[in-house]
Amino acid sequence: MQRNGVLRICTVLLLALCTFASEVFDWTKNEMGSFQYGTFPSGFSWGAGSSAYQTEGAWDKDGKGKSIWDIFSHKRGKIDRNDTGDYSCNGYYKIKDDISLMKDMKLNHYLFSISWPRILPSGIRTDYINEKGIEHYDNMINMLLENRITPIVTLYHWDLPQVLEEKYGGWQNASMISFFNDFANLCFERFGSRVKHWITFNNPWSVAVEGYETGEHAPGLKMRGNGAYNAAHNIIKAHAKVWHTYDTQWRNKQKGMVGISLSADWGEPVDVTNQRDIEAAERYVQFHLGWFATPLFTGDYPQIMKDYIGKKSAQQGLSSSRLPAFNPHEKSYIRGTCDFLGISHFTTRYITQKNFLPSRGNSYFTDRDLAELVDPNWPDPGSEWLYSVPWGFNRLLSFVKTQYGDPIIYVTGNGVSEKMMCTDLCDEWRIQYFRDYINEMLKAVKDGVNVKGYTAWSLLDKFEWDEGFSERFGLYYVDFGSKNKPRYPKASVQFYKRIISSNGFPNQREIESWKRKSLETCTSSNQLLAADPLIGHMEMVTEIVIPTVCTLCILLSAVFLMFLLRTRL
Ligand SMILES: *[C@@H]1O[C@H](CO)[C@@H](O)[C@H](O)[C@H]1NC(C)=O
Ligand SMILES: *[C@@H]1O[C@H](CO)[C@@H](O)[C@H](O)[C@H]1NC(C)=O
Repeated sequence: MQRNGVLRICTVLLLALCTFASEVFDWTKNEMGSFQYGTFPSGFSWGAGSSAYQTEGAWDKDGKGKSIWDIFSHKRGKIDRNDTGDYSCNGYYKIKDDISLMKDMKLNHYLFSISWPRILPSGIRTDYINEKGIEHYDNMINMLLENRITPIVTLYHWDLPQVLEEKYGGWQNASMISFFNDFANLCFERFGSRVKHWITFNNPWSVAVEGYETGEHAPGLKMRGNGAYNAAHNIIKAHAKVWHTYDTQWRNKQKGMVGISLSADWGEPVDVTNQRDIEAAERYVQFHLGWFATPLFTGDYPQIMKDYIGKKSAQQGLSSSRLPAFNPHEKSYIRGTCDFLGISHFTTRYITQKNFLPSRGNSYFTDRDLAELVDPNWPDPGSEWLYSVPWGFNRLLSFVKTQYGDPIIYVTGNGVSEKMMCTDLCDEWRIQYFRDYINEMLKAVKDGVNVKGYTAWSLLDKFEWDEGFSERFGLYYVDFGSKNKPRYPKASVQFYKRIISSNGFPNQREIESWKRKSLETCTSSNQLLAADPLIGHMEMVTEIVIPTVCTLCILLSAVFLMFLLRTRL
């Protein structure tokens, strides 16, 4: 990991040097803006997030069917250290504990996902409904509401029922649209009296690109140049169908909202005076966020994607574009199917123009004709890809406002991980990240961007997909090595609590004391953690040593008895 990062920074530096052979490049020209004091509009919703496969565990319990992630993570060599989400945080059994953590932080909302195969083991509603799965989410929703925490529910956070992948090819197949709609409709029917915020898909970019293009994620297919575009096409249609189902069958009764959660890094031109870099940066954002958002707001893909993929397909001698097209009926059906836009944002890249020749083969990545760079001075506290660039958040939010007609925005994910095996509960860098990113969001809100809520990612450390348990995003540390998966608060819990209770950043004097006070609390929790191996050791004593000693005693007495009997005879 470490060496990889260094290598990457070197290539990035080289690239930067090549691009600016003669000029001295000033990376810091974009270090903009001072800290802004102030608070968010009243009613602003503060929350934390999670997803089913990453936290629940109980992968084969109470009638749950297998998902593509159960199968993928059990294949050796796919996940860091061959970890799986079989147990993860044991969240399935710890609803009550976790809700008390949320209550202690005074969260306004909790964002979580429903596991499709836990409710419909084969994925298909007409086959079989697993009432035990329904009961689990019923309990969770009720308990959240009893504690005055609003549930925000994601219907698809990547755990497709395995049967649908095997029989139909998953998201490559248009039949997923009606299967997913049936599942969503069942959720509206059973939970919709209490759930008013629905997210159809979380980060469909990742589902399409990492699931069907690079194969780093389940189902692990490498259909370069086609797989991602076809999967995305079906996902966009599935989203629209579910929105219409809610609109026609449930909206009058339940009065909720249906949106989608899109991931979006910001792309900044390396050279803001170079038209080619400006256009490349625009392409970077359009190929990522715009790929999904533009159809939902305007009915069709971004023109730039149609142009580039069409041009590249023609160069490869194909008779039609590898990007599928919506027909006129589909366009009007898809347009306007977003009651709110969920935005997940973690990092930013500098972008420069780079031509890829057709001989390099087709792929989503070469279709864009650009290169991504990072500033070697950007803090890189955790995951290799995650550089802390707060100002990118403000720019992205303003872009969303102007590009999509001032939609209602919920930030559905924002946060930072820490390096492998790090057990430091004094996560000063996470405090810094939250402070600066939330402050950039405050600036955007003051400029009129309609952000209604913020979701810190994530409540707990959890199974981080192909990175296994090696990356920790949690506000709470989870000891995965211990059977009971205990949770310990990191210092950032205290800091986030203060932001929530003040609804922002009231004044300089107070905020300076927040950081100090938050870091004071973590020393005591550190001792707790240090005591943990001891507890593990004591468990070993009771579970292994005592039974072994007893067995030995019995055996010895038996031998002694036999010896006694023989000498007597
Ligand atoms: C994971 O599985 C692969 C394939 O069997 C093996 O080569 C590798 O050593 C395993 N890694 C660990 C950490 O066990
Ligand atoms: C979708 O699934 C059906 C049923 O298995 C199959 O006949 C069809 O070829 C599949 N289509 C694609 C595009 O995979």
